[in-house]
Amino acid sequence: THVVTEACIRCKYTDCVSMCPVDAFRAGPNFVVIDPQECIDCTLCVAECPVDAIVPEDQLSADQREYLALNAVLAKAWPRIVEAHSPLPDADDWAKVADKRAWLDT
Ligand code: F3S
Repeated sequence: THVVTEACIRCKYTDCVSMCPVDAFRAGPNFVVIDPQECIDCTLCVAECPVDAIVPEDQLSADQREYLALNAVLAKAWPRIVEAHSPLPDADDWAKVADKRAWLDT
């Protein structure tokens, strides 16, 4: 599966979701996830993300490893998103911030 990682938090650009041929994305308040039960590893979403938040499972860095489980868990709780919409208002500012884990709203 592919995994949405920390860089998405508080940005949520959503360019990724319109590319997905199987509608695998789910949206929370300030983050999106990929349902691992639906992702077919087509990789089409990867290049769409302005902050490079989407990573194949086998290329997750150690500090992003927890997002594998987070995507799976949150995908069960959050609604499907199939079309891109406006990024969060301060997305361009938050795109430059590292260590955003504490701001993840569930
Ligand atoms: Fe998030 Fe990037 Fe998609 S910021 S919503 S993973 S385009």
